[in-house]
Amino acid sequence: MKGTTSLLAGIMLLSAIPAAGQSQKGNTRMANAATIDAQADRIVDAMTLAEQISLTRTRAGASLKDLGVPLPAFIPEAMRIDKPEGSIGTAGFVPAIPRVGFPAQHQADASLGIADIGYLRPGQQSTSLPSTLSLAATFSPEAALEAGDIIGAEAFAKGINIMLAGGVNLAREPRNGRNFEYLGEDPLLAGRLVGQQIAGIQAHHVASTIKHYAVNPQESGRFVYDARMSEAALRESDLLAFEIGVRDGRPASAMCAYNKVNGLYACENPWLMNEVLKTDWGFKGWVMSDWGAVHSLHASVNAGLDQQSPQDKDFFAGLEAAVGDGSIERQRVRDMARRIVRAMIEVGAVEKVAKPGGEIPVEAHSARAQALAEAGIVLLKNDGILPLAATARKIVVIGRHADKGVPIGGGSSQVIPWGGVYRDAPEGTHPLSALMAPSYSLASPLKALAAALPNAEIQFDDGSNPARAAALAASADVAIVYAVKTEMEGIDHADLSLPWGQDDMIAAVAGANPRTVVVLQTGNPVAMPWLGKVGGVLQAWFSGQRGGDAIASILTGRVAPSGRLPISFPASTEQLPHPKIVGFDPAKQKALSIGVRYDPFPIDYVEGSDVGYRWFHLKGEKPLFPFGFGLTYTSFDYSGLKQTGGQTLKVTATIRNTGKREGLEVAQLYVAPPGRSIRLAGWARVQLKPGESRTVTIEADTWVLLSYDESAGKWARPAGDYRFFIGKSAGEPELSGSVFLNAAAQDRRR
Ligand code: BGC
Repeated sequence: MKGTTSLLAGIMLLSAIPAAGQSQKGNTRMANAATIDAQADRIVDAMTLAEQISLTRTRAGASLKDLGVPLPAFIPEAMRIDKPEGSIGTAGFVPAIPRVGFPAQHQADASLGIADIGYLRPGQQSTSLPSTLSLAATFSPEAALEAGDIIGAEAFAKGINIMLAGGVNLAREPRNGRNFEYLGEDPLLAGRLVGQQIAGIQAHHVASTIKHYAVNPQESGRFVYDARMSEAALRESDLLAFEIGVRDGRPASAMCAYNKVNGLYACENPWLMNEVLKTDWGFKGWVMSDWGAVHSLHASVNAGLDQQSPQDKDFFAGLEAAVGDGSIERQRVRDMARRIVRAMIEVGAVEKVAKPGGEIPVEAHSARAQALAEAGIVLLKNDGILPLAATARKIVVIGRHADKGVPIGGGSSQVIPWGGVYRDAPEGTHPLSALMAPSYSLASPLKALAAALPNAEIQFDDGSNPARAAALAASADVAIVYAVKTEMEGIDHADLSLPWGQDDMIAAVAGANPRTVVVLQTGNPVAMPWLGKVGGVLQAWFSGQRGGDAIASILTGRVAPSGRLPISFPASTEQLPHPKIVGFDPAKQKALSIGVRYDPFPIDYVEGSDVGYRWFHLKGEKPLFPFGFGLTYTSFDYSGLKQTGGQTLKVTATIRNTGKREGLEVAQLYVAPPGRSIRLAGWARVQLKPGESRTVTIEADTWVLLSYDESAGKWARPAGDYRFFIGKSAGEPELSGSVFLNAAAQDRRR
C-alpha cells in the first residue's frame, strides 16, 4: 500500500471500490454463477445424507490437552477432545470427503492476521496486522483490501481455506473488549472496509466469514444478553454495516453471534438469518454459529443456521434422526450442505486446495503491515512538538514494555507475530493463564526510535515510578510516553482510564516537562485527564508486526499522520447512552469468557441507529475528540462549496493545503435527513503538496440517505430539505448547506 494516494488514484479508488459488487471480478463471478451452481449440485448430490450432514458439524481443530498441563474444570469438553486426524490445528475443522472431491474445512481466526492464541499450531508465526480499528482509521478501502490480501495469502500458504475474518460489529460501547477486532462506529465506513477486507482474503481461494451477526457490541454477558432495538434502527445501523459488507465482499460465510437479538438467540433467529440475510440480501453462502452459540437443533436449522461450530453439546448430531422422523426436511439438509459447497467453489477453494508449507514473503508482509499501521495512526494533539525536531538531542522514552514491543489484542484473534510474542505474565503463571496475559509483538518502540534518530541520546524508563520518570523527563528535550491499555476477548473495561497508574504517571511527567508526547497504544478510546498538560498525543492503537517502526515514522515525520478516528472519544462515560455497561460485573470478567455464567438480561439500545457521533450530535454533547478527527503536519482550508440535489446529493468543494508540508486530508460529508441526526454519507482522501489545492466532488451514498420504514416494510427517503456539511470530522463542519432531495424508495431486497 502506498502511504500517499494521489488524488487521481484516490478518486479512481473511491469510484471503483464501493461498486465492487459490479466490478470486473463480480461480473466474471456472475457469468460463472450457472457453472458454480451446476458444480455444487453435482458434488452435493453425489453425497450421502450422512456425508452432507458431516459438512455441517465442525469440531475443534486443536486440543488444549496438547499444552500438556492439567486443565481447570471450566475448560469445555470441546476444547479438550483429541486433535482430529487431518486437522492442521485451527479453531474449527471438518474432514474432507475425497470420494466427491470436497476438501477438508480448516477454519482459522481472524481479522488481524492468521491467529493462534498460542496452542493451535505450536511454533507457527504470522504477520500481525494492526488492529482493525486502526485499519478503519485509514478511511481507506484500499488499505482494507491490502490487509485482506496479506491475510488471504498467508492463510492459503498455511493450508487454511476458511478465515473467520470480517468482524464488523458496530462500536456502540467504547469499553467493549473486542472493538479492536471491529471497524468502528459508522455503518458505511465499517461496511465498505469489511467488504474490501473480505474480497482481499477471498481473492486467494480462501473463504471469509463476516461476523458476529448481529449486534454483539459488548463482552459482558455475551452468551446471554438480549440486544433490543427496533427493526428500523437495526437495519439502519448494525445490519447496514453487514449488508454493505455482504454486497461488496460477497463473503462465503457469516457467523451468527452468541447473544439474542430482540428475544431470540442470533443463531436461532429466523428473521436475522432466513429473512434478512438470505432473502433480503440474497446471501448465497452459509451461516455458521459462533463457538458455543447453538441452543437447539430444530429452532436453529429452521431459522437458517447451516453449520454448528464446536461446542460441548453437538446438536447437529441429531440431524439424521430429525430427517428420519420428518421433523427437519431432507431438502433443508441438502441446502445446508450445498451452501457450504457452493461458497467454497465460488471462492475457488475446491479447485485450488490450500496446503500447508507454502511460501510467505515475511519481510514484504512485515513492511506492508508497517505501512498499514502508519496509515492508521491518528494525531490527536500537536503544540508544534511534532514531528520531532532534528535538533532534539536528549530524548526520554517512558513506558511499560516500550523497550520490548507493542501491545496486541487478546483472545481468539491473537496472532503470534513473526519474531515471537512477549507475554506479561509473572514467573510460574499457569501456561493457560499465560496465553491470556497481556501480550506484545516484539516491535520495540524504543529500538525503532533509536534507529530512526541515530544522533539522539535516548534514555529509557519503564514508567512504573512516576517520580523517577518525571525526574528523568525534566532535563530532556522531549519526553515520549508510550501508554498501554490492553484488551482481551471476553473482558470489557469498567471505564476509560489507563491502567497501572499511567494517568498519574503521565501527569507527573508532563508536569516536569511540558514537551511530552503521549503515544496511546490502546484498543479503544481512553480518557485523557492530562491532555492540557502535554504537547502532543498520537493514537497508535495496536500497531502490529512493526508497530514500533510505524510509530517512529510518524514521530519523526518520515510519514505524515493521516489516520482519522473511526470511533468517538467521549469526554466522559456520562455522555454515553449507557453510562455504565449493562450487566458489567468485575467478578465475571474472564478471558474469552470461558466458564462464565450469567443470568440472561436485556440491553435496550436506546440510541437506536444513532450510534457514536450521531448520538453526540443528537444530544448536543461535545466529545473529547469527535469521530473522523485527526490532525497532520500541515493544515487545510475548504472553499467553493457547490451542491446538487434532486435525485442524488453531490457536494463539491476545493481543498487547499495551507501549510508547509505535504499531507492527506480526509474530507467527510455528513448529511441529516429531515428530523434525523447526521450520517456519514461519503468521504474523499486528498493528498496535497504545500500550496496545492484540488476540487473534489463527494456523492452521498444512496443507501445511507434512506431510512427504513417499518410499516411499509421498505426503505424510504422523504422529499425535503437535507442539511449537510463537509468537514474534517463529525464535529468540525467546514462548509455547510441544505439541499432539496426528491422522494425515493427502495424495496428491502435492494
Ligand atoms: C469468537 C469468534 C471466533 C471463535 C473461534 C469465539 O469465541 O467469538 O470470533 O471466531 O471463537 O475461535
